[in-house]
Amino acid sequence: MSACGSVSSQSGKNSPAVALEETSPGTSPRQRDRAIGGRGSTGLPWLLLAAMPLVAIGCGPTPAASFRLNMFEASQQRLKPSQEQQVATILAAMFGSPDEPVVLAETGLDEAKLQLAAGPVRSDIVGRKNGLYREHCAHCHGVTGDGMGPTAAFLNPYPRDYRPGVFKFKSTERADKPTHDDLVLVLRNGLAGSSMPSFDLLSESKIDALAEYVKYLSIRGEVELALMRAYFELDDEDQGKLPETREFLVEEILAPVAEAWQSAEDAVIDVPEMPADIDLVASIAKGKELFYGNKANCVKCHGVTGLGDGQANDYDDWNKVVLQAHKTVQGGLEQASKASTWEMDSDELSEHEADLVWLERFGKVLDGNALQPRMIRPRNLRQGIYRGGMRPLDLYYRIHAGINGAPMPAAKGTVPPEDIWHIVNYIRSLPYDFNGTLGVDRPMVARDRL
Ligand code: HEC
Ligand code: HEC
Repeated sequence: MSACGSVSSQSGKNSPAVALEETSPGTSPRQRDRAIGGRGSTGLPWLLLAAMPLVAIGCGPTPAASFRLNMFEASQQRLKPSQEQQVATILAAMFGSPDEPVVLAETGLDEAKLQLAAGPVRSDIVGRKNGLYREHCAHCHGVTGDGMGPTAAFLNPYPRDYRPGVFKFKSTERADKPTHDDLVLVLRNGLAGSSMPSFDLLSESKIDALAEYVKYLSIRGEVELALMRAYFELDDEDQGKLPETREFLVEEILAPVAEAWQSAEDAVIDVPEMPADIDLVASIAKGKELFYGNKANCVKCHGVTGLGDGQANDYDDWNKVVLQAHKTVQGGLEQASKASTWEMDSDELSEHEADLVWLERFGKVLDGNALQPRMIRPRNLRQGIYRGGMRPLDLYYRIHAGINGAPMPAAKGTVPPEDIWHIVNYIRSLPYDFNGTLGVDRPMVARDRL
């Protein structure tokens, strides 16, 4: 990837342009005012303090990178072009651009860290590297964090779309956000058995900056979703436009998202100590019983063999919404083709026609803005490869809280906390369980058979 980054030119062809005034060289970026001009914008004057200039950083003719608008959601919500433009304008004012991120204090994010991770790949005067996200992550996760970088379509599972703010491998309850340290751990260790690599060779401050940037993209994505969904609740007097007041944008839209991230730091699951004198053989036997029992019911998905060959026809949440959208479009078009338009009065007819236009547009948006839905497989537990880490503690978190965004449910509430340790011990024994007599064709370690 060149310094200016082929990825950085991934300026979404679907995103409405957000007109930002070119800035003159020589002035300090912080002294320049941002002009959130653009069609139909009222300028969000209260946000001008967080002035965000658009600086071209020696990239010659390559256009500056821009965030792609969430066209999937915009189409799903049937937004008008003027409403899409309003969302883009608000987002640019609140979060800046991929080259110049800005954040409001309410996000709790550290702008200096974001600067290190953002922008095109480059070094400053003292050789300090910037643009870490585009260097290491964007080809998979996309500049916008939509999980649709150029490499994404070839991978299974797909790289994570951060925008819904859902994360899997963490120390907090299922629906909670990950802590900063959880993200750091994911970056350090990678996710074994998926294409998400380890970045352990990067310095602590770089990993820290990248984790902060993931939060930034996620908060931005969640705010975008909240804005798009808010049109639905507008009153007639709003005339199809969101109020651009601080009260609405910060207090109603941003604050709940940011608070969820901040509260995760104090919401780490309380894990009881594994009894030091635990009888491992008895514990594994108890764990096995629970695994096959109908309370924990691990067997339903991970299979009688533990090879992950139980229920294998489900989807994760990211794929489910796309699958659902395909069904809506196909089902809708089929139904529309059968509708007897001659029986309709003029209102019904125009509604019918509007529906058709929308369904066809949504279908096109799906082709360009979503990856083909793919099923998720329950993990093969005889391989001993766990995305979220192989420490007993990692497995405890996984079983206690389940895996957010995936069909894997939480055992919390059905299995008492101490008993979760028995399941952990059983799971950890599975790769070494030879399931019968040893022989030349039956190696000791089950994973050698795979
Ligand atoms: C080669 C592709 C690839 C690259 C490069 C990559 N990732 Fe990932 N990443 C993935 C995949 C695939 C997943 C999803 C795994 C899953 O869903 O289980 C993922 C998931 C994640 C998650 C979600 C973890 C969770 O708990 O849910 C985070 C955070 C993440 N990546 C951050 C990064 C960052 C930051 C970088 C750059 C420093 C990066 N990734 C580079 C492929 C990649
Ligand atoms: C409804 C289906 C379902 C049930 C029930 C279920 N799982 Fe899972 N499990 C999954 C799926 C799907 C995955 C893969 C998730 C992913 O790829 O992100 C998974 C992943 C896992 C992992 C891998 C975690 C990692 O870090 O890679 C472990 C361990 C696990 N399950 C253990 C269990 C145990 C123990 C139980 C019973 C208490 C259980 N599962 C019940 C569907 C299920």
